[in-house]
Amino acid sequence: MNPAIVRPFESDDLPGAATALIKVHETDGYPVEGVEDPETWISSDDVLRAWVAEMDGEIVGHVAVMRPQGEAAVSLWIEQSGDDEGHVAVLGRLFVVQAARKHATGRRLTEAAMSYGREHDLRLVLDVMAKDAAAMRLYERLGWRKIGETTHHFGNDESIPAVCYVAPGA
Ligand SMILES: CC(C)(COP(=O)(O)OP(=O)(O)OC[C@H]1O[C@@H](n2cnc3c(N)ncnc32)[C@H](O)[C@@H]1OP(=O)(O)O)[C@@H](O)C(=O)NCCC(=O)NCCS
Repeated sequence: MNPAIVRPFESDDLPGAATALIKVHETDGYPVEGVEDPETWISSDDVLRAWVAEMDGEIVGHVAVMRPQGEAAVSLWIEQSGDDEGHVAVLGRLFVVQAARKHATGRRLTEAAMSYGREHDLRLVLDVMAKDAAAMRLYERLGWRKIGETTHHFGNDESIPAVCYVAPGA
């Protein structure tokens, strides 16, 4: 298997990224709430910058840096650090299709987002569902630190435990 190329997201990547997301939802239940309109979810107005992983002409992974949208990790980090919300951004929409995993694609996508955070003086935080253990191991390997726990509410009164992380400082 050729290694995936990690590169900035381009608008032509949207259908491929949506197909990849649908696969990841089927295998991993990510995102938990499901995605009725994957293209809109991926290309939300809150995205500051995004990257994709491409392998043999197919999109196999994605990550974004996003403006805060009320994530628990954002308020926890602001409380704990006194940082201004304007200097905080959220790493989100990270996924790699199962067939392309365990080749450091998730790591390289996350590193691309982390470099962007450092270059733009944005401290990255995130909420991850506690069930997504591979993602938590990945963040911790890259130096992310747990800053608290929360409960993610979705659907019809459903809820699931989540963990909040902050990226290492500059
Ligand atoms: C989390 C996720 C993005 C990781 O993607 P990935 O491409 O497999 O990530 P990596 O390859 O960098 O790391 C995964 C594992 O492969 C291992 N690995 C990396 N390169 C390897 C190699 N060349 N040979 C063997 N193992 C390798 C890593 O050490 C890691 O091991 P671990 O699972 O024991 O911790 C993927 O599992 C996923 O999409 N999960 C569902 C969605 C999700 O949870 N998203 C997070 C939302 S917050």
